[in-house]
Amino acid sequence: MLYNNIIAAIGNTPVVKVDDVPYYYAKLEGLNPFGSIKDRAAAYAIRCGYEQQLIHERTRIVESSSGNFAIALAAVCQLYGNPFTCVVDPHLTPLNREILESFDANIVVAETADNNGSYLTNRLEIVAQMVTELPDLFWVNQYDSANIRRAYYETIGSELITDFEKNDYLFMPISTCGSIAGLSTKLKEYYHDIQIIAVDIEGSKIFDQNTYHKRSIPGMGASIIPGNLPYARIDEYIQCRQLNAKRVYAYRKTSFFLECGVRTDDRVSPQPGA
Ligand SMILES: Cc1ncc(COP(=O)(O)O)c(C=O)c1O
Repeated sequence: MLYNNIIAAIGNTPVVKVDDVPYYYAKLEGLNPFGSIKDRAAAYAIRCGYEQQLIHERTRIVESSSGNFAIALAAVCQLYGNPFTCVVDPHLTPLNREILESFDANIVVAETADNNGSYLTNRLEIVAQMVTELPDLFWVNQYDSANIRRAYYETIGSELITDFEKNDYLFMPISTCGSIAGLSTKLKEYYHDIQIIAVDIEGSKIFDQNTYHKRSIPGMGASIIPGNLPYARIDEYIQCRQLNAKRVYAYRKTSFFLECGVRTDDRVSPQPGA
């Protein structure tokens, strides 16, 4: 395959059969150029920002993320030549810091945790302050963005309906709920009986606001109810134990060489995340 630039190489990830009965497939989003499904949202959000004239060459892009979205945005912004600030929590992993710095990202650390040990509230406050004080700034806002929901509807959603004539279930890890919102909308248009199963993690507040469990797996769970959630057409949700998620990941990786989500082993934070 020939591509004119690395952004064009995002998406069209392979789908691999994992089990025969029932047929169960994994889409290898970890094989996107910057390492996760979030590459799709970052590339789409910045392109739409330009098309909608919310971004021009000197606009600083800002986002609250310490993980995969920050990495994807940092890479995409560097390719577009836009400065990028990511607001992170103090538990940013050394590897993620190194990757972000290699893409010239400006890193701002939120220092104040809420009662649940999460820094998300403080991170969003910092972003809101930057938006009011600094001129020519664009906040991507991954927790509530029509462009991001549409990114998944149009990219991974279109890829899956091309690959499968029939589809009974989608199991989707959730955090900001942007991907499940776009994907569930697309898949329900094509597979009328499909069941959409959201896979959340213990300690997440998406479906259980009273939980106080610390989370260490990036890319699953959230400490707020994301604005994207009402757009997701979820039939059922599973709250997975963190230990089980790590065990399944390790099993898939050693038994099938599968990198299904992200190269999580390198990026697991020892401390709670967003
Ligand atoms: C690798 C990976 N998969 C899935 C998700 C969940 O996607 P969303 O934030 O759209 O719910 C994330 C979120 O960070 C992620 O990093």
